[in-house]
Amino acid sequence: MTALVSRLLTWYRQNKRILPWRDHPDPYAVWVSEIMLQQTRVDTVIPYFERWLEHFPDIESLAAADEQDVLSLWEGLGYYSRARNLHRAAKVLVDNSVSLREKEGDEGRVCLPEDIKSLQKLPGIGRYTAAAISSMAFGHDVAALDGNIRRVYARVFNVEETLGTTQAEKVFWNLAEEILPKGEAGDYNQALMDLGATICTPRSPSCGDCPINEHCLAYELNLQDERPIRKAKKAVPHYVHAAAVIVEDGRVLLAKRPSDGLLGGMWEFPNGRVDGDPAEGLASALDKGYRLKVQIVNPLGEVRHAYTHFKITEYAFRCDLIQSSQKENLQWVDVENLGDYPMGK
Ligand code: ADE
Repeated sequence: MTALVSRLLTWYRQNKRILPWRDHPDPYAVWVSEIMLQQTRVDTVIPYFERWLEHFPDIESLAAADEQDVLSLWEGLGYYSRARNLHRAAKVLVDNSVSLREKEGDEGRVCLPEDIKSLQKLPGIGRYTAAAISSMAFGHDVAALDGNIRRVYARVFNVEETLGTTQAEKVFWNLAEEILPKGEAGDYNQALMDLGATICTPRSPSCGDCPINEHCLAYELNLQDERPIRKAKKAVPHYVHAAAVIVEDGRVLLAKRPSDGLLGGMWEFPNGRVDGDPAEGLASALDKGYRLKVQIVNPLGEVRHAYTHFKITEYAFRCDLIQSSQKENLQWVDVENLGDYPMGK
């Protein structure tokens, strides 16, 4: 083991963050945490993780759940395809284990596979997540690379390839596999994650406090703010939408989004993209999208949200319904039951 690795492991064992999925005895819990942690901060994930495990303590209970309950528990975490994929993967595991049991007469619990190849066959599990689960939950010697870990390597080894290029990926994976300490991969991968989250941060890294600063080339060259090298950011489009809040007799009209794509299977107020003045564009957007004829009563306000690839400003209007030809994705919902219908932020 190199001095770099042993210093990092010692630092991790003395300073690791206490997190509910760390050293959890159940690989299922590690899997759930890894999916929730994709694109999402640890502090945000903790209460979602705890609530999820209370509702779905194992793979069987998740597989048997209703999609609406799954999405409701994910409501507010964003990137909802993660929840749908977890649900689908649980069903795949249950189906596979039923056919295995039929063959082998085994009565055990449904389990995750341990190796990265089998893990990567499940919906929502890519190379990083498979490696994280395999190393942390099962102790296998596999290197994991996420954004934080790439940043640490880019600085420690002064990687000059641009992040996201094939060449950079080759360099990062070679480094990760070469350095990986055998028998310690779970702690080592998590040590890199913690270092990236707490010390080797994207901006203003705390190099003075870093346990491996003596081994860091970028620190030595004072290039830590220049690493990793990123591609120039593309401008993201900004869309304007208008939405109708239509209430009749204590019920509100909601629309269900198609099950695939952004916010798939979630509910929303009928809305559509508009060019120019949202109040003017609303009626024709709703006619086009839902065959709904509405009349605006008054404006309710606006909501802004940034997704990965675009930004949106949604203007909401209280509306009266003039006419609708019944469409199956529309549903009247008692206002007091709105909480049962998962919606995006
Ligand atoms: N990010 C992703 N997985 C993590 C883990 N196990 N600990 C801390 N941060 C993480």
